[in-house]
Amino acid sequence: MEKFRIRGGNAIKGLVSISGAKNSALPCMAAAILTPETITLHNIPYVRDIITQRRLLEDIGAHVLTPELRTHKISAANIEIMAAPYELVKTMRASVLALGPLLARFGKARVSLPGGCAIGARPIDLHLAGFTKLGANVFLEAGDVVARAPQDGLVGAEISFDKISVTGTENLMMAATLARGQTTIHNAAREPEVRDLAELLNKMGARVRGAGTPTIQIDGVEALGGAEHTIIPDRIETGTFIAAAAITKGDLEIKDCNPEHCNRIIGKLREVGVEIEEINQSTLHVRCGPRGLRSGDLSTEPYPGFPTDMQAQYMTLMSQANGRSVITETIFENRFMHASELQRMGARIQISHDRAVVDGRPHLGRKVRHARQRRHPIPRAFQRVHRDELRQEGDHDRKAHCSPRAAPLPWPRQPP
Ligand code: UD1
Repeated sequence: MEKFRIRGGNAIKGLVSISGAKNSALPCMAAAILTPETITLHNIPYVRDIITQRRLLEDIGAHVLTPELRTHKISAANIEIMAAPYELVKTMRASVLALGPLLARFGKARVSLPGGCAIGARPIDLHLAGFTKLGANVFLEAGDVVARAPQDGLVGAEISFDKISVTGTENLMMAATLARGQTTIHNAAREPEVRDLAELLNKMGARVRGAGTPTIQIDGVEALGGAEHTIIPDRIETGTFIAAAAITKGDLEIKDCNPEHCNRIIGKLREVGVEIEEINQSTLHVRCGPRGLRSGDLSTEPYPGFPTDMQAQYMTLMSQANGRSVITETIFENRFMHASELQRMGARIQISHDRAVVDGRPHLGRKVRHARQRRHPIPRAFQRVHRDELRQEGDHDRKAHCSPRAAPLPWPRQPP
C-alpha cells in the first residue's frame, strides 16, 4: 500500500493545473469498443483506474497507444473476448461500462459482478434492467453477469430509472447507439461526464439528444466510426484543491478547470467563507477569507447538486470551521469511513446512519491516517501536488504548472 507522509502547518500556495476527469475518461475509453475505427482521446488523467481500464481493453483484444502522456489512441478492430475478467472488475467498478458497448456491437458480453469501492453495496440492477428492456437476455452465471442480444440486435425502448445512476445512464446510452429504433432514458443522470460521453458518441456518428437533461433520446444507427475528443476537466479534483487551499489558509491559482461544472461546489464553499475568484473561464483563485471558515449544513445530491465525491473533503473542511455542521449523505450508504480517521486526529464528529454532525474546531492533531477509502479527502489533493513534483524531471510542462512551494511533502522512497 502506498503511504503519504504529510508534514502539516504549510499553506498550499502556487499554481496547479487540473487533469481530465477520470469519470469521463473511463466511459469514453469504453465507448471505443463500439467501433472498429480508432478513437483518440486527449486529456486522459494519469490515475490507477485509467491504467486498469486500459488493461481491460487490451485484455479483450483492443490496441491502446499513448503517443503522448495524456493521449490514448484506442483501436477495437480486433476484439477477441467479449468478457471483462474478475481480476480487473474487482478492483474497479467502472469495468461494468464494458458491458453496454460489447453487447451492442457483438451481441454478447460477460462481466464479473463489480467491486472496487468500499462505499456501500452499489448494485448494478438498473443497468441490467435497462439491457433487458433493450431486448437482451441477462442472467447470472458463476458470479458473472452474462448478457445476450437477440439474433438481429438490440431494440430501442423506453427506459425509466427509479434511481439516478451515472454509469447506468452511460452504459445504456452506449448500448442504445447501435440498437434498432429509438431509445428514451427517463430520469437520466445529468452529470457533465454524461454530456461529455454523449459528445464523443455523436462525434462517432451516434444520434444522442438531451444529454445533461433528465431525458435522453437516442436514435440507433447501423455502425459507429472513429473520432477525436478531449476529456473535460475533473470537477472533483478542482473542488479538492479548493478545499486543500482553504483548509491550509493558502493561496492557490487553479487553472485548466471548468468553473461552470463546479457551480454547486464553489457556491457552497463560498458560503462557508472560502474566497473563490473566477479569473476567467478556466482559472480560479482561492484563498481562505479573513474571518476563517464558518460552519454550514450540506446534503449530497446527484448533479447539479453537491457531489458525494466531495463529501469527505467538505467534512474535513467543516472539522476546522467555527460551529456545528450537519452533513447528510444521500447517494451512498456507508460513505463516512473517513470520519473515523478524522476523529483519530481530534475531530468532533458523530455519525448516525446517513448523517454526520461535525463540531468544528481548529487545529487537528498529527496522527497517521489510513487512506482506507479510495477517494480520501486530504491525501488525494496532496498526492496530486506531490505526483507533479515527482514527475518534474520528465514532464517539463507540469514543472511550469505546479509550484514546488505548494506542499513540502517528503515521499518515502521505501515504504517504512
Ligand atoms: C459514479 C461515479 C462515482 C460517484 C457516483 C455518484 C463513475 C465512474 N463513478 O458512480 O465517482 O460517486 O457516480 O455520483 O462515474 N444504484 C443502484 N442500482 C444500480 C446503480 C446504482 O441502486 O444499478 C445506486 C447506487 O448504489 C447509489 C446510487 O444508485 O446509491 C448512485 O450510484 P451511481 O450513480 O450508479 O454510481 P456510479 O455510476 O457507480
